[in-house]
Amino acid sequence: MTMFSAKDYENKVLCGEFLVMTEAIPPGFFDFVFTDPPYNFGVSYECWDDSFPMSHYQELVRSWSERMMRLSLFGCLFLPEERVEYFRAVMGEHSLLIPVINPMLNRHRKYYILFWGAQAPQDDYVQPIKLSRLGEDHDEDHPTPTPFSLVRRILMQWTKPDDLVLDPFAGIGTTGLVAIDLGRRFCLIEVDCSYCRIARKRVKERMLYAQKID
Ligand SMILES: C[S@@+](CC[C@H](N)C(=O)[O-])C[C@H]1O[C@@H](n2cnc3c(N)ncnc32)[C@H](O)[C@@H]1O
Repeated sequence: MTMFSAKDYENKVLCGEFLVMTEAIPPGFFDFVFTDPPYNFGVSYECWDDSFPMSHYQELVRSWSERMMRLSLFGCLFLPEERVEYFRAVMGEHSLLIPVINPMLNRHRKYYILFWGAQAPQDDYVQPIKLSRLGEDHDEDHPTPTPFSLVRRILMQWTKPDDLVLDPFAGIGTTGLVAIDLGRRFCLIEVDCSYCRIARKRVKERMLYAQKID
């Protein structure tokens, strides 16, 4: 059995499959989860099949969602409209959906943030998240980087300094960079070794920069 040690998951970029990498982590270890999961839209990732039969994808969504909810009482996902119901079916009717309006995203698709957990925003206060620009994104390094300004907005609003934030589908590490900028701790998991290498390099550079300006 794998022994759990908290320091193995703090400010780390871990290369491996999400469910495997988090097996030994106790419930509620993280303060928040933010992620942009695979959508099964047939994107050509280096080493991840993004075109599973839908029944298999649905099983993955169930396992991923159950694990994320076990690891953190509170979190959210960035999703296109076509995938919201798959995740919501597992997260329950108390999960909350906020539209994202960003002119830089695919204009033919609607995007949402889906929250789970008791700390999720209440309906009365919910406004669409409107973004005017993409911020710093490295399109050449990853086919689907998450808009930097969106991740920043989410972590600014729903996490506190020093919180430990998990991104289980971390790509080239956008969530880690935002966490560093905002003084949050992070744990990034990514199955693809080449994206992981890029994420590690970006995170290291950002940490050095943050130390210089402290
Ligand atoms: C939509 S992208 C995330 C992009 C990321 N937010 C960024 O800005 O770079 C989803 C990522 O999940 C990774 N992935 C897919 N299945 C995974 C799994 N089971 N465990 C860990 N990572 C996985 C893919 O390789 C891909 O990089």
